[in-house]
Amino acid sequence: MAVATEYTESELADFGLSAERLPQHIAIIMDGNGRWASSRRLPRIEGHRRGVKSVRLAIRECSRLGIKQLTLYCLSSENWKRPPKELDRLLRLLEQYVVEERSEIMRQGLQFSIIGRREGLGDSVLREIDRTIDLSCDNTGMRLCLAVNYGSRAEIVDAVRDIATDVASGNLATSDIDETCIADHLYTAGMSDPDLVIRTAGEMRISNYLLWQISYAELWVTETCWPDFRKDNLLEALRDYAARDRRFGGLTG
Ligand code: IPE
Ligand code: IPE
Ligand code: MG
Repeated sequence: MAVATEYTESELADFGLSAERLPQHIAIIMDGNGRWASSRRLPRIEGHRRGVKSVRLAIRECSRLGIKQLTLYCLSSENWKRPPKELDRLLRLLEQYVVEERSEIMRQGLQFSIIGRREGLGDSVLREIDRTIDLSCDNTGMRLCLAVNYGSRAEIVDAVRDIATDVASGNLATSDIDETCIADHLYTAGMSDPDLVIRTAGEMRISNYLLWQISYAELWVTETCWPDFRKDNLLEALRDYAARDRRFGGLTG
């Protein structure tokens, strides 16, 4: 893929967008790979494979639009309920993606990271992930975060355990536990909260994704399955987002 440059204000205007009405952080629940495949009488893994192309396009477009962070839900803690064969293929696809996209991540200057529990992912996937994290850590472009073996409740459990350990060892007073302290103990410490959550394939649920972080995010759901998600879908979500009135509990100014 050729190096992508950022869109100009006039290109954004052609899309019906303006830079100041764009979200800083977009989180996507990339759903519907299996349904996409089944409706074509293909094996589910084919849907996941086709989904990788949508991942590449979404990253490139978000980067060109000047989005600061993109967080993609790749595998949930609850997805371990699926047949081992599908999980094995998903993890292999992830490893292949991380290896193949490394040069593109560097070309686009993305800062790569993951959130989720590392247990169960396998040494070889983790090695490739860590290599990309290390290589891209000084990049200054869009943050690209993959949620892998991620579950929001598990994340909160891990944060509470860390905080309890700090209190027990005398490094933290209970009176210092506030919202900032909790946010600082989540996997997403140091990241901004998502402004916009996009879910493909039509389900009206959050599926244990970033529960703390999306308290005031705008939600946008499309019937389009993830392997069919293209630039036009993204632009539609962004135009919809731009027209929203985010009040954060206050009143419209
Ligand atoms: C999303 O697609 C990808 C993962 C959850 C790994 P699905 O595999 O959930 O596809 P559907 O929802 O069964 O169509
Ligand atoms: C959410 O999709 C997880 C990912 C996209 C990785 P699921 O397909 O697992 O969600 P449910 O089971 O429909 O809630
Ligand atoms: Mg699904």
